[in-house]
Amino acid sequence: MGDIGAGFGPILCVVGARPNYMKMAPLIRAFRAHARLPRSMLVHTGQHYDVSMNDRLFSDLRLPPPDHNLEVGSATHAVQTAEVMKRFEPLVDEYDPCCVVVVGDVNSTIACSLVSVKKGVPVAHVEAGLRSFDRSMPEEINRIVTDQLSDLLYTTERTAADNLRREGIEDRRVHFAGNVMIDSLRMNLERAVAPTDTLARAGADPSLVTSPPGFALATLHRPSNVDAPEALLEALTLLRDVSDRLPLVCPLHPRTQGNIRRFGMESLAATPRIAILPPQGYLETLGLMANAAVVLTDSGGIQEETTALGVPCLTLRENTERPITIAQGTNTLVGRDRALVVRLVDQILASGGKRGRVPELWDGHAAERIADHLSHWLERRVALAGT
Ligand code: UD1
Repeated sequence: MGDIGAGFGPILCVVGARPNYMKMAPLIRAFRAHARLPRSMLVHTGQHYDVSMNDRLFSDLRLPPPDHNLEVGSATHAVQTAEVMKRFEPLVDEYDPCCVVVVGDVNSTIACSLVSVKKGVPVAHVEAGLRSFDRSMPEEINRIVTDQLSDLLYTTERTAADNLRREGIEDRRVHFAGNVMIDSLRMNLERAVAPTDTLARAGADPSLVTSPPGFALATLHRPSNVDAPEALLEALTLLRDVSDRLPLVCPLHPRTQGNIRRFGMESLAATPRIAILPPQGYLETLGLMANAAVVLTDSGGIQEETTALGVPCLTLRENTERPITIAQGTNTLVGRDRALVVRLVDQILASGGKRGRVPELWDGHAAERIADHLSHWLERRVALAGT
């Protein structure tokens, strides 16, 4: 079916930053394959723009090229959010979308939701209701506000509905759909790149990942871990301790790379037991995660992906907005507690560590469920508009 009519143009799907792409890829595919949904267009805000943070992921995930790129780039939170809003508004005017679909919790998510709702365009938020209860995280503010603004809230785990209810959001707006990021993981696992190839391509020694007891994968980019010199020093020292136990592969986010340089901490990671890599593509990261003996991270998505893969994950944070990865999955919160991390790594090497199960509806079909639900919702809206 084409556009539904006045006030009911295409579905505008928004991405802005790296963690959005693996969520949007299955959604765009499901929307475009759905017989009863209007056409969907992909809008990229340009929050992330480097080849390593953007283009490679688009091709790995087989995301279609964006119909529009707003090219906002990096800036302070206020400026970045404001720029997205300023540049997104004319698109909403031009296309008169039937709804705007946003994912996750980045600045682009809140910015496009706010523009849309003020223009009377319904917003669907995929990955709604997650809460760390830590308002010092910029993402927590983005989650709370986006959920308040959204007409449709698709959740990845059942506890999300409790969080939303507490914030006064009616149950009828909330739909438990499962985890679209795990749709991407399942669809692409067979294409994952072997860690030896990833290291060789990056000019690192591939034998680091081939001998017992295996290797650890570490990723670090949260402002709370990398923006202050004391925190970054603690985190790097902790990783160095882990590297005494097993080799470490560490793809570095540009924020972390920049701060290591700025604070003069390059020497901390300079050991043959640690392979520092540039940011990796989706298929390389999948291969590293799936084959690691243990993953150390402060990423939200990686906590979920390791749970889906059954790989032990130590999360370098004091809290998580994804409690199911702890209750049912392989995740453990460790903060920057070096002694705890070394003890847990030893346990993992001795006995495999925490065994989890894959949470409900993390089954590879979340995007299809969302497409179906959205099509019914839009049809009801059209029917009501006609009465
Ligand atoms: C953003 C998200 C965060 C997500 C992360 C994944 C917000 C508030 N934060 O944080 O939730 O986990 O993306 O990466 O939206 N930079 C580059 N190249 C790029 C993009 C960024 O070099 O393509 C550098 C710039 O120096 C920039 C810094 O990284 O200033 C931070 O980028 P920004 O988009 O502000 O936030 P992230 O830390 O990436």
